Amino acid sequence: MSELRVVSSCRELVSVIADYRKQGRSIGLVPTMGALHAGHLSLVERSLAATDLTFVSIFVNPTQFAADEDLDQYPRPLEQDLEKLSRAGADCVFLPDVSEMYPGNCTTSIEPPQVSRRWEGESRPSHFGGVCTVVLKLLNLIPADVAFFGEKDFQQLAVIRQMVEDLNVATRIEGCPIVREPDGLAMSSRNVYLSETDREIALSLHRTLASVAEQVAQGETDSHLLMAEMRQKLIDSGVSRVDYAVIADPTTLEVVEEVEGTVVALLACQVGQVRLIDNCVIAR
Ligand code: PAF
Repeated sequence: MSELRVVSSCRELVSVIADYRKQGRSIGLVPTMGALHAGHLSLVERSLAATDLTFVSIFVNPTQFAADEDLDQYPRPLEQDLEKLSRAGADCVFLPDVSEMYPGNCTTSIEPPQVSRRWEGESRPSHFGGVCTVVLKLLNLIPADVAFFGEKDFQQLAVIRQMVEDLNVATRIEGCPIVREPDGLAMSSRNVYLSETDREIALSLHRTLASVAEQVAQGETDSHLLMAEMRQKLIDSGVSRVDYAVIADPTTLEVVEEVEGTVVALLACQVGQVRLIDNCVIAR
């Protein structure tokens, strides 16, 4: 097990980074909200392979939760998280509290880019503003060479890529593949809230995406037909609500008329108490 350095204050973090920089070592950053699972650990692994030092941040960011969302209930198994990061070989974990990240006099926030407005942005209007603000703050505190984000949050990745480009942030953003449970459910910290019945229903997200990919492989290109079928399959399998089930351009996230080149199938559904998202990139 490597020695995991735990830093809680911005002041200490800045001096730790300065020391590492003097040694000329490259830095990777994996921003998380904790409750770490194999998906997060795959980002840590990727960072360990690509950079000299791997920083992980654990911060349940209040500004990306709406008032009626699960901020207070969000899982915070800190001891297990630190154990996992130690075992994985991460070098440093940044563990600020809310007052450290958002002191009382902090009134600046980021207006997220255009690509944030559709899909998740419609269901969660304040979400990406909070994500962009905290990610930019983290990248300012930890000016990593590369920052790693999971493709499970496909729109989040597109939003962050655009923000980093628009605001001339030097860090390269790397997207990493979705990690799934053996039965296909995309790993998520919120999966722990699923009842046994809901867990069965939740499998329909992955099955629906697999079926779209299969239909495209067999030559179907009419995206409106495919989108209607996606929605119907999800409803038939018992999800409580479909927020969106679309086939879109992977950069702009605008709906495409025809499946040509590379597209992304994106969906979000309510299953019992849990809102789940999943996606699949399809190349034709
Ligand atoms: O994906 C997440 O866990 C969060 O949105 C992030 C990127 C750590 C920002 O709080």
